[in-house]
Amino acid sequence: MSIGAKAGKGIRCHNEALLRLLGKIAHQCGTRAFLVGGPVRDMLLDRFGPDIDIAVESKAQTVGKEIGRRVHGRFVFHSRFLTATVTLPDSSHIDITQTRTETYSRPAVLPRVKPAPIEQDLFRRDFTINAMALEITPFRFGYLLDPCSGQQDLKYKLVRILHPKSFIDDPTRIFRAIRFAIRLGFGIEPQTLKLMRQSIKSSYPSLLTAERILYELRLISSETRRLQMIEAIKREKLTRTCLDWSPPSHFLSKLKLLSSRTRNPELFFILILSNLPDTGNFPITKQERESARAINRFHLIHSRLMRAKRLSTIYRLLHPIPEPALQILSRIEPRAVARAINLYLNRLSSIRPTVTGRELRKLGLMPGPKYQRILDRLLYARLDGLISKEKEYNMARRLIRQKKV
Ligand code: CTP
Repeated sequence: MSIGAKAGKGIRCHNEALLRLLGKIAHQCGTRAFLVGGPVRDMLLDRFGPDIDIAVESKAQTVGKEIGRRVHGRFVFHSRFLTATVTLPDSSHIDITQTRTETYSRPAVLPRVKPAPIEQDLFRRDFTINAMALEITPFRFGYLLDPCSGQQDLKYKLVRILHPKSFIDDPTRIFRAIRFAIRLGFGIEPQTLKLMRQSIKSSYPSLLTAERILYELRLISSETRRLQMIEAIKREKLTRTCLDWSPPSHFLSKLKLLSSRTRNPELFFILILSNLPDTGNFPITKQERESARAINRFHLIHSRLMRAKRLSTIYRLLHPIPEPALQILSRIEPRAVARAINLYLNRLSSIRPTVTGRELRKLGLMPGPKYQRILDRLLYARLDGLISKEKEYNMARRLIRQKKV
């Protein structure tokens, strides 16, 4: 289906019926509505993402709530950002934002936002290719607003900022410029590139919070061309400036290896974390922190693992390591080590002693640290083939009687 005839283009739209419905709901609530940002860019490039970004000139909360009701989605309103999100049953999102202007009180801080008409909203955005809006309100459905000539930059494959202070106000846009350029196979327009490098040279990215930098690294980790993005970040000395991190080439080889063996964004992100100089105060999950640390310290057990003759030794060495770390290591370590890790992940980790704590109690053992020690001894003996499942009970009885643990 072709829409946007009024924009002089035959734009292919994959979800026209839904967009028409959203526009109609906004109109019934008394406001104009637009598809904005990434989805417009992607539509003009004939690409398609599952999420939809809508901007309304007023009543974002009312419109969001009504959309949630009509499409059977889950509705959440973030009053601080004047943004509503509706999560659809297939877990895709519709974001509804109030059109706004933004003012930055200082470089690299989050902006103060104020409601404003759509034209002004487009001028506060990062790049010309992201500063277009497609009206979806009835009677004007399909009108393209392109005050910054985004269509032309799409045609010439260029990422271009809208004003010279863009990378100073918001240095996360440097990550974004690199990400979009590499994702889309675009160039960064020469003046934009110059200003981007000036911002890095003047250390503006170092003013960003760790949270915002990590958010950008997470986004990069989800991209198909993530490795090229990390290489570009290194070339531009971007993370050297803001994280004191310049990924060494041996580490880039590991990222490459991991990337060739799994698409999983979280594993890629954890591997990055493991190479950062200091993640002490970073807002990351406990599992991410512990996994990154385990990868970092893996060399300490490496040779013991290589020499391990018994399955129980492999088990004991690998058991304390969180699973995401093992998933990563199994893909980046040499074959012999990877084999031991896979053996642990696929077989050893699921073996459990059949004797229960209750049975130990019946055998006269008082609750305490001895419980775990006996259960471990039974498990190691099982793993090493010294006893069968059936003999475990006898061994437990013997250990308790002999007071050997
Ligand atoms: N935006 C901006 N400056 C930022 C982040 C976002 O101007 N630092 C604007 C851009 O117009 C962008 C829109 O907000 O298109 C939505 O942001 P986001 O969802 O991050 O960008 P998308 O373009 O939708 O990117 P993606 O294709 O990765 O979803």
